[in-house]
Amino acid sequence: MKTVFVLNGPNLNLLGLREPAIYGAHTLADVEQLCAQAAARNQLALRFHQSNHEGALIDWLHEAGQLQREGQLAGVVLNAAAYTHTSVALMDAIKGAALPVIELHISNVHARESFRHHSYIAPVAKAVICGLGVQGYSIAIDAVAQVLLAPAA
Ligand code: DQA
Repeated sequence: MKTVFVLNGPNLNLLGLREPAIYGAHTLADVEQLCAQAAARNQLALRFHQSNHEGALIDWLHEAGQLQREGQLAGVVLNAAAYTHTSVALMDAIKGAALPVIELHISNVHARESFRHHSYIAPVAKAVICGLGVQGYSIAIDAVAQVLLAPAA
């Protein structure tokens, strides 16, 4: 069984409390539950993590890279949160391991402040999903299984 990583960056531990008009009422625990269901229906093992620290996210990307080399990685769903807009280090980690990443945002970052329009992740991602609320996580895991893992992908 291959593994899908779902990695969440800074402040996403506060989902449900944080700016509910933008991010909704669901908590990170709710999101993990959604991801567990999506992984199960696609016969994938799930690694779900959140950190407020850039280095922790990079360490998990390196772990995903190791699984990739072993042929055990399905893909990575990455909501790098604010690090999306700032982190060359995350971009390098993805590029260095040629990781199949789907960049994800709960909100539609393109309908928000202009500093959220630039992403260091998008150029090294297979796809970008944003603006679908927390359902985007579920859709992203389906896409990992049904598009990234498909023979023609
Ligand atoms: C976010 C969008 C980012 O711009 C922001 O910094 C976040 C969350 C989203 O999921 O919509 O923390 O990634």
